[in-house]
Amino acid sequence: MSAPKVAVVYHSGYGHTAVVAESVAQGVRDGGGEPIVLKIESAGQDFSEMLDAASEADAIIFGAPTYMGDISAPLKAFFEASSKVWFVQGWKDKLAGGFTNSLSFAGDKAHALNTIFTLSQQHLMIWVGAGQPGGAHSNSDAGENNVNRMGYYIGVATQSDNAPAEVTPPAGDREFARLYGVRMATTAARFK
Ligand SMILES: Cc1cc2nc3c(=O)[nH]c(=O)nc-3n(C[C@H](O)[C@H](O)[C@H](O)COP(=O)(O)O)c2cc1C
Repeated sequence: MSAPKVAVVYHSGYGHTAVVAESVAQGVRDGGGEPIVLKIESAGQDFSEMLDAASEADAIIFGAPTYMGDISAPLKAFFEASSKVWFVQGWKDKLAGGFTNSLSFAGDKAHALNTIFTLSQQHLMIWVGAGQPGGAHSNSDAGENNVNRMGYYIGVATQSDNAPAEVTPPAGDREFARLYGVRMATTAARFK
């Protein structure tokens, strides 16, 4: 059996969400899958090739920073362009997942993840949640090295400070993203 292909379609304005996307892609590799990393540059770009590439995959993970309480506009533009695929049900029964990164610990990231989840259900895809227990049940759980330190289950939520992407989001968040890539690759292998 060939390795499952997992597309990671994401936007990142200032590089922090890009770090999360690379961690997800590493996890896909670690889980025996082949990542197809597709970076959205702007809302105005031509998405045709990217849509074709995503359609080749067994699973698609969508990621964006949370801006003004929702996914950033370039990922939303990609979602609207995906209506072309919706008309032919091209993503039906593919696995789907999502991640978002923002400055605040909450920051309305749940709303951004719900936007991604909704898109996946419009496409009749099969959603794969974050798959990690944890979450901050006490202050000691919320440390930077902890996986799922903010307690999100629908998808992967990470937090970065106003500092360069080389140092933030922290190690626990990167590991959360990597583990999600592993989860998606191994789940996709089971479905294949
Ligand atoms: C236009 C804009 C809106 C933002 N809105 C939010 C928000 O609603 N919640 C939040 O926690 N952070 C918000 N932030 C902070 C970003 O989510 C944060 O800087 C993040 O690291 C950006 O990711 P990026 O480097 O991948 O672009 C906003 C930033 C920008 C530029």
